Amino acid sequence: MNETEALQHAAEIIKRGGIVAFPTETVYGLGADAFAPLAVARIFEVKKRPHFDPLIVHVAGPDDLGRLVTDIPGPAQKLINRFWPGPLTLVLPRRDEVPDIVTAGLPTVAVRMPRHAMALRLIELSGSPVAAPSANPFGYVSPTTAEHVREQLDDQVDLILDGGPCPVGVESTILSFSGERPRLLRPGGVPLEEIESVIGKVEITPVEKQTPSAPGMLPIHYAPRTPIVLAAKEEIDSYRNRKAGLLAFRESVKGRAFDHIEVLSRKGDFREAAANLFAAIRRLDALDLEVIVAEAVPETGLGRAIMDRLRRASCEDDKFNYDQSGS
Ligand code: TXA
Ligand code: MG
Repeated sequence: MNETEALQHAAEIIKRGGIVAFPTETVYGLGADAFAPLAVARIFEVKKRPHFDPLIVHVAGPDDLGRLVTDIPGPAQKLINRFWPGPLTLVLPRRDEVPDIVTAGLPTVAVRMPRHAMALRLIELSGSPVAAPSANPFGYVSPTTAEHVREQLDDQVDLILDGGPCPVGVESTILSFSGERPRLLRPGGVPLEEIESVIGKVEITPVEKQTPSAPGMLPIHYAPRTPIVLAAKEEIDSYRNRKAGLLAFRESVKGRAFDHIEVLSRKGDFREAAANLFAAIRRLDALDLEVIVAEAVPETGLGRAIMDRLRRASCEDDKFNYDQSGS
């Protein structure tokens, strides 16, 4: 099958109520027709995702929002004009027609227009907005290649579209417009600084303060099986006698005995580091190490999203053991 045929086939599957894994510029998504509750329910089953955690609805253009939201506040419209298509998700007041399973019964719906050509074409051909979480088992690192999806979900999805590695590599930035002021719910592919340059100051809720009832902000998330510890450069040395892997930001730290070292970006470029992040964590996780030591990165630009994912991956709080969440 060539790409056009594969996309047509994928759209047919979505129209018939199936589920398809597809590339976006951020990470691979697992999509269903947003207006087909049974298909969406299968996504939750396959991911073992708790039903209180709502999905992002992907649109082919701002015109599709008419079916989904009741209002687009001025600042949200400015961000749409500036950053769509792209890695920015907006949480807006929903229309009643949007199925509850998509929004977890919230009065809002999360929407985004991806920048990846295959994602856009798939949504267009499907003739409906596509609800899609990242295509990984709940709580695990998001997939940034079709191979990552195959490794974990192959026999459980109807089709996996292969669009190569995802160029951005971390999930979209999520901004909520449900309160009085815009609030950052998840740092991601569009840096906060760029958003604030368009709409001014945005409120931020730090990870520790986010309750699990603020969905998707679950502290432990993006976690590999191997424990991750987040370490400042000076602390890295203390792990040398363990069977440890190092996730370094820039040049590899010399003279230290690690079983394996992954360098996210030799030149210290945030974009390159973000694009490599999840694949590097997966490679380290496959090595049966005692611990993965992740070097802290500066929290500006995309560094904020990288640190957010590292913090969530390293959270060791027993309170957040989702195997017991009944999902
Ligand atoms: O880049 C991305 O955003 C990727 C690609 C596939 O588009 N998708 C993604 O989806 O990361 P997911 O499901 O892994 O994360 C979506 C987050 C969840 O944490 C969810 O709780 C939050 O968005 N979310 C969805 N609807 C929401 C709502 N109405 N209010 C607050 N948070 C919401
Ligand atoms: Mg996810």
